[in-house]
Amino acid sequence: MQNQRKKITVAVVQNQPDFGQPEKNRASVARMILERPDPSADLIVLPELFATGYQFDSASEAAGLAEPERGPTFRFLSELSSETGAVVVAGLPIKRDGGVSNGALAVLGSHLLASYDKIHLFDEERDFFIEGTSPLPVVETPFGPLGLMICFDWLFPEALRSLALSGALVVAHPSNWVLPFGPQGMILRSVENRVFTVTANRTGQEERGGRPPLTFIGQSQIIGPRGDIIARASSNAPALLVAEIEPEEALSKKVASRSDFFEQRRPGLYSPLSS
Ligand code: ACM
Repeated sequence: MQNQRKKITVAVVQNQPDFGQPEKNRASVARMILERPDPSADLIVLPELFATGYQFDSASEAAGLAEPERGPTFRFLSELSSETGAVVVAGLPIKRDGGVSNGALAVLGSHLLASYDKIHLFDEERDFFIEGTSPLPVVETPFGPLGLMICFDWLFPEALRSLALSGALVVAHPSNWVLPFGPQGMILRSVENRVFTVTANRTGQEERGGRPPLTFIGQSQIIGPRGDIIARASSNAPALLVAEIEPEEALSKKVASRSDFFEQRRPGLYSPLSS
């Protein structure tokens, strides 16, 4: 293959939303991105449920904050994309037939490139959201195939594996991490699939409905296909990470001259995985 590797700029927003105030939270994210001297980027990733907050009290509260796929958050992401030139990925509650999903959109200008409903719901999310029923998406972008997954999906190795086997070079990963081992765990996920992973997490605490408080662990990060931590935010403050990556680095799955670990897979011997 000719050497036509292209560097792209990735921006990751780590925000601290106020629960139930989507307009205010969207405006604050817009300021974080647009008030830089040069806001342009190729990919921008925002957290899971970035504008609503996370700890819903009930399914009806989640439904009250949910939006149609092409609602106000889509329009916001579309404007952000037009102003920066970036593919923008973000999480939001989406109104679907039969309930509300914990979803994510990938938007480029006025185009909805992907709309994904989280397939592995975490803990109390199971009371508020319906599970996604479609495979994890990989979409064509100007910088190559981009995969999407949301937060807890990461702990199912099959999720990122299926994105990588479908050709994703970069995986956008909107998150609201509360478990402590996500940031380190994602390093191995990136290495075992040789892909870039871009996790946008949030910070702060929520304590709603008399339930135990949730502390979101921040540490948004960009991890390279060799496990390098290209950028990582702190655990307790909003942040904007910006870094350059070369997506084509993720094309080769070779770790030694005779060891390509995608070619050497033995799916016929992994039958428990498909049952
Ligand atoms: C999570 O999936 N938000 C922990």
